[in-house]
Amino acid sequence: MSQKDRPVCVVTGGARGIGEAIVRRFREEGSDVALLDVDEARGRALAKQVDAHFVRCDVGEPGDWDAAVRELREHFGRLDVLVNNAGVLQMETIERTTADDYLRSFRTNELGTFLGIRAVVAPMREAGGGAIVNLSTIHALRGVAGAFMAPYGATKAAVISLTESAALELGRFGIRVYCVTPSWLNTEMSTRTPLPPELTESLRNRGGAVGAGNPWRAQLEPSEVADAVWFLANDEAAVYNGTNLVMDRGGTVGSYPNLPPPERN
Ligand SMILES: NC(=O)c1ccc[n+]([C@@H]2O[C@H](COP(=O)([O-])OP(=O)(O)OC[C@H]3O[C@@H](n4cnc5c(N)ncnc54)[C@H](O)[C@@H]3O)[C@@H](O)[C@H]2O)c1
Repeated sequence: MSQKDRPVCVVTGGARGIGEAIVRRFREEGSDVALLDVDEARGRALAKQVDAHFVRCDVGEPGDWDAAVRELREHFGRLDVLVNNAGVLQMETIERTTADDYLRSFRTNELGTFLGIRAVVAPMREAGGGAIVNLSTIHALRGVAGAFMAPYGATKAAVISLTESAALELGRFGIRVYCVTPSWLNTEMSTRTPLPPELTESLRNRGGAVGAGNPWRAQLEPSEVADAVWFLANDEAAVYNGTNLVMDRGGTVGSYPNLPPPERN
């Protein structure tokens, strides 16, 4: 995507949270934006507000992707950027996580990302190239004691691996593929996901604060993730093809045992 064009950008899970910030950022920059989500009410309302195009799409459904890409090609005539942002979080102990729970996370977070990449290859090849940005999480990089996010982290680790293979396979078509890996943000995913009693208890024991050494402390704003996605989607980021951009204010580059929490930087 070149900044002088009027590129067409597709954002999954764009109805709220990080996805909404990405939708707004690309609209502010003058891109045409398609917002794909299962939440029709909020998706349509946001699309109307920012003059974007809403398509109902469950990213885990191959048929939904086929229909969405067909509609977007008819509507915009081209596709330049895909942001695979839709995701779900379940926080639970391994013992209480059922196979269905696990597959539900996998279906949206990993299969949904794969199906999105697959769906845009043909239109991006026709356009002479494009950029794909996938969303992972620092829980994909290492475990966090007591976070109860084993399946979530595993599905998002697969997204990093998928990014690397896709960047290599699709690079020859001019399609660049990236991952962004944020720490935590105060979105509905974080505030509305029910906590297992073990976590509620340990948070209570710590006075509600997350302890030193825990990269959760590195809070980000959705607009900061949107800035990173905008940067990677542009041609200037071509040298970083395949990269995983970790965004955690240094939270995972080392550990901070027995130190007071570092200043926010
Ligand atoms: N919030 C965080 O702390 C955090 C940290 C790191 C990474 N992430 C990742 O960033 C992305 C966005 O997170 P968020 O905090 O904005 O989440 P959110 O729950 O606030 O929003 C997610 C959006 O995805 C949509 N969605 C869910 N399942 C879908 C499906 N099957 N098909 C289409 N749309 C679907 C939801 O309707 C919603 O609009 C996710 O991939 C998440 O894993 C979030």
